[in-house]
Amino acid sequence: MGYADVYGAWKTDPEAFWMKAAEEIHWFKEPSKALFDDKAPIYEWFADGLTNTCYNAVDRHVENGRGEQTAIIYDSPITHTKRTISYVELRNRVATLAGALRAKGVGKGDRVIIYMPMIPEALEAMLACARLGAVHSVVFGGFAAHELAVRIDDATPKAIIAASCGLEPNRVVHYKPLLDSAIDQATHKPDFCVIYQREQEVAQLIEGRDVNWHGFQYGVEPADCVPVEGNHPAYILYTSGTTGAPKGVIRHTGGQLVALNWTMKNIYNVDPGDVFWAASDVGWVVGHSYIVYGPLIHGNTTIVFEGKPVGTPDPGTFWRVIEEHNVKVLFTAPTAFRAIKREDPTGEYVKKYDLSGLQTLFLAGERADPDTIKWAQAMLDKPVIDHWWQTETGWAIAGNPLGIEALPVKIGSPSVAMPGYDIHILDEAGHEVAPGELGAIALKLPLPPGTLPTLWNAEDRFKKSYLTQFPGYYETGDAGMKDEDGYVYIMARTDDVINVAGHRLSTGGMEEVLASHPDVAECAVIGVADALKGQAPLGFLCLNAGCDRPHAEIAKECVTLVRQEIGPVAAFKLACVVDRLPKTRSGKILRATMVKIADSEPFKMPATIDDPEILDEIRTALQGLGFAN
Ligand code: COA
Ligand code: AMP
Repeated sequence: MGYADVYGAWKTDPEAFWMKAAEEIHWFKEPSKALFDDKAPIYEWFADGLTNTCYNAVDRHVENGRGEQTAIIYDSPITHTKRTISYVELRNRVATLAGALRAKGVGKGDRVIIYMPMIPEALEAMLACARLGAVHSVVFGGFAAHELAVRIDDATPKAIIAASCGLEPNRVVHYKPLLDSAIDQATHKPDFCVIYQREQEVAQLIEGRDVNWHGFQYGVEPADCVPVEGNHPAYILYTSGTTGAPKGVIRHTGGQLVALNWTMKNIYNVDPGDVFWAASDVGWVVGHSYIVYGPLIHGNTTIVFEGKPVGTPDPGTFWRVIEEHNVKVLFTAPTAFRAIKREDPTGEYVKKYDLSGLQTLFLAGERADPDTIKWAQAMLDKPVIDHWWQTETGWAIAGNPLGIEALPVKIGSPSVAMPGYDIHILDEAGHEVAPGELGAIALKLPLPPGTLPTLWNAEDRFKKSYLTQFPGYYETGDAGMKDEDGYVYIMARTDDVINVAGHRLSTGGMEEVLASHPDVAECAVIGVADALKGQAPLGFLCLNAGCDRPHAEIAKECVTLVRQEIGPVAAFKLACVVDRLPKTRSGKILRATMVKIADSEPFKMPATIDDPEILDEIRTALQGLGFAN
């Protein structure tokens, strides 16, 4: 069956399609049906089945004879460490960790925040939660204490599992003081914290609250997998929205198991036993779906890489990992390739390694620019496949399903709708636009298994953010078009979210931080084009009347403030002071126009602009930062 047949089979009978896919998963009690629509527009999948994520990702492979197969390869060029963990070792380690958490009171439905770098223990912590039916929420290490505090207050975790430190190429990230500060700032307090002490930094434990990762596991009874309902939350993952308050995307257990397992063969074309490498971080959705759950559920070997595409130690690191560990599929963000291309444009490092085992490169997380795709194609001589998805969906909305049929690649398009997704391009009134015309990209409800059913503690926000603009559809927040062959093109966001090095960031969140500076009266943050990271945030600051402090000093303080409050991941390094911001007569800041000026792109003077002369002031300020030339 080709792509058209498989997509058609799904469309004709989605229930049969997903029930068939569910046969690949172990159920303690089989679900009676796939879709549960009695709470529509909140849809659930496999709700009355009983299963367990950890059992499917770990134990069943041991029971089916894969116990000696490597489950995790840890490769850390930063610490010069390599380690492998077999499925049986993983089962034993996770069962003990889960037993220790259970002994301290963690059970089904309790939330556990995980704040850890790219080490195998981060995966073990996630799997131990899944084993107990506890709901994990992993917080990316590049977020600062305040962001962690916001997540602590929203998820109200019983426990937090953290490492003593993370390691960036040029510095140690001191997690423990960040954790302590976050708990101080948060209203909710966890019962206890588990600290994994890395040899690079031993953190001070707080008596009565903190326990040592190794110590608290000593002598405990290992825990078995707890059967949970198909609609039991597997995790919460916070992602950026329009405001500074992150959205807690929920993933349900049954849908995630079925969908991710289905993607491993059908989209990525790997078989159990193959080595799959998603060069991302467990703090992002790519890490959840394709460092941890997808590969392990499917019986693959996954790679935990603690390093960067360049500088650890050189732009040949990716090729070394591929050769050394026999990686069949590499999945990363285009930024990683732009970084490598910048340091090794002629591919001298590529030539040093044997990449014959590599089958395909998959890209996602941000727009894959044609130059990067062509360079990767030329260097690797392998298919380079763009696919499009988001934290909310957990797996590809559009892609090229290599395990079903390799469709022709159209550079600039992540290809076609995956089974489960009915993609529509709509105008503002919700009418379908013609092929080739731009519009908002919306997905007909229900979304498939493995996507978000709602937001944690925020069903109204879920409905308002995603379901209200186009009744009967999920609004992706992306704008784009579809061609005559059904290939989609993702052009821009329709909200104030920007994408920096494949990281999704809220300009609204940064504006909230800038506005808290005592000298700032008003501000706006936009995403300007950046050759390496795709976009970079840039802030405009209007100062309080009478403030006569040097502008450069205030801009510098604002850069420091964003780093302190949101974290280094915001990569907020550009700020300038302006007298006024361009606005419409109704007071809306014209951010899109400022982006066009910064990127030296043509723009139409907005008909509703209050004072067009302000745009000249903005251009001058941007030129001072090296933009708008
Ligand atoms: N913990 C703490 N700090 C972190 C961090 C983490 N896990 N990850 C990144 N940071 C810090 C970086 O050290 C950097 O700090 P700096 O301002 O002191 O230099 C800052 O956050 C910005 O990080 P990043 O945007 O990643 O930039 P970079 O210059 O360190 O690296 C790339 C640039 C392109 C090499 C890097 O972004 C990359 O490898 N991207 C691959 C794509 C990817 O993983 N995307 C994730 C989604 S798929
Ligand atoms: P995140 O939730 O962090 O994964 O970010 C999701 C957003 O990243 C999407 O809504 C898009 O704006 C963007 N994105 C992800 N993948 C692609 C892609 N292949 N092409 C273009 N944009 C993408």
